[in-house]
Amino acid sequence: MEEPALSGKEIARKLNRIGPGAQRGGELNQLDLAILLAAGEGKRMKSSRAKVLHEIAGRSLIAHVIKTVEPLATKELRVVVGANKEDVIQHLNQISPSAKTIYQEVRGGTGHAVKLALAGYNSSGTVLICAGDTPLLTSATLRELLKDHGSTGASATVLTTHMPDPSGYGRVLREANGDLAEIVEEKDATEIQKQTSEINSGVYIFAATDLIAALGKIGKNNAQQEEYLTDVIGILKSEGKKVSAFETPDFTEILGINDRSQLSQAGFIMNARICDALMQSGVTITDPMSTWIDITSEIDIDVTIEPGSAIKGNTKIGSAAVIGPRTTLINCEVGAQARVFESHCESSKIGESAQVGPYTHLRSGTVLAEQVRVGSFVEIKNSTIGVGSKVPHLSYVGDASIGTQTNIGAATVIVNYDGVEKHQTVIGDHVRIGSDSMLVAPVSIGDGAYTAAGSVITEDVPAGALGIGRARQSNILGWVLKRRKGSKSAEAAAKKEGSK
Ligand code: UD1
Ligand code: CA
Repeated sequence: MEEPALSGKEIARKLNRIGPGAQRGGELNQLDLAILLAAGEGKRMKSSRAKVLHEIAGRSLIAHVIKTVEPLATKELRVVVGANKEDVIQHLNQISPSAKTIYQEVRGGTGHAVKLALAGYNSSGTVLICAGDTPLLTSATLRELLKDHGSTGASATVLTTHMPDPSGYGRVLREANGDLAEIVEEKDATEIQKQTSEINSGVYIFAATDLIAALGKIGKNNAQQEEYLTDVIGILKSEGKKVSAFETPDFTEILGINDRSQLSQAGFIMNARICDALMQSGVTITDPMSTWIDITSEIDIDVTIEPGSAIKGNTKIGSAAVIGPRTTLINCEVGAQARVFESHCESSKIGESAQVGPYTHLRSGTVLAEQVRVGSFVEIKNSTIGVGSKVPHLSYVGDASIGTQTNIGAATVIVNYDGVEKHQTVIGDHVRIGSDSMLVAPVSIGDGAYTAAGSVITEDVPAGALGIGRARQSNILGWVLKRRKGSKSAEAAAKKEGSK
């Protein structure tokens, strides 16, 4: 298959709206350390799984955040873990092996978590802090935040936005001249303070030395009896350091996930972004609202995706293929110009110009060569089908290898399982398997051979032979008239006799 027009990396780049040239020399464009806070229990998810391990668009929440932070050339990544820490650490080892995890045993607040994360860190430099549950944040916004932080020379820069519904968030208080004054948590805010809609996103950039010094001064004198990271802002300010707020217009980037409704909303927004990036790159998506595409998939130009389809995992689709309606592809590779509709396919390869569906189930290990046709109510697993061969109707093909230009008659079953073990079936080129054949594995059918319809084939059929495995038919003449006297059938038969 040719290189897709839009690889997963490029989708990510488009979504993050950053071009390869986005990083210019001279500007502050690199972080020394990124800290992700992910110790929270995520109680409102009502889940046995850690909140940050829940997924949208085929990736865990924390993996989305890590992919967003990575392009900022972070030298070091530290993740504060707590609830379900074994699972989170195991996942981090897979997606970001160089990340360092810090265990926060008791949830002492965001300030406490950052203190733990910074233990042993004594370099100066630039530190990004964000939460592990904000998957919609983009690298482009982080880059703008970092640029702003560099240009103002502030000790701390807070990413803020105006939320249509700010309830639950910390409010950003500004001075008369517009400068950042402090951040007040909702639980500690006065009625007047609560009226401001500008909120703290929970994303910050700090000068490390100033952050470490200020963290030493925070207390727990607040409604939640927790050490608030947000208190650092007021402390720095009171010490005459410059603190700054950088406002982003797109509040959806800030949305955090606390429950399954928000998980679904974030999934919807992410999916809309993915579909939009694909459409902008030359993919037709008839109905993005009913089309779900994982960020890890790759789709070439001029592909059409019809409604009700899901493209999941590391699926790759070649140019001008038509997928759907109502088709699920999980970790599949689909060749150019192929057509797959009303079908469910997993870990399979579908060759160029092949046709699959309607109502086909391709299971793991299916490899269809170019121009193969597979039709309704056909299930295939762990089998290879050669160029131009057809399995058009009502069949099961398992553990088989089928040559080129072969036709498998309707309702053929490859009997691959004897109740104890699975066995292989080999079918050659230009074979014609008669309808309703049972091919009892292990068995092989030679090139150009035929099997008679309705056969149970238990022995090899040599090339060019006709295999017949069924009883010869015999007719008992006059049986109905004799044994079903007076029946409608007998009447009908008698009339026929009389008319002769
Ligand atoms: C925090 C901010 C608030 C901001 C909001 C944005 C503080 C005090 N408040 O509030 O101003 O508007 O985020 O979403 O920082 N965490 C830990 N360990 C802890 C506590 C929290 O790792 O001891 C992690 C959580 O897992 C989460 C993040 O830190 O990922 C934020 O914690 P959360 O409790 O959600 O803070 P908020 O009260 O929402
Ligand atoms: Ca929160």
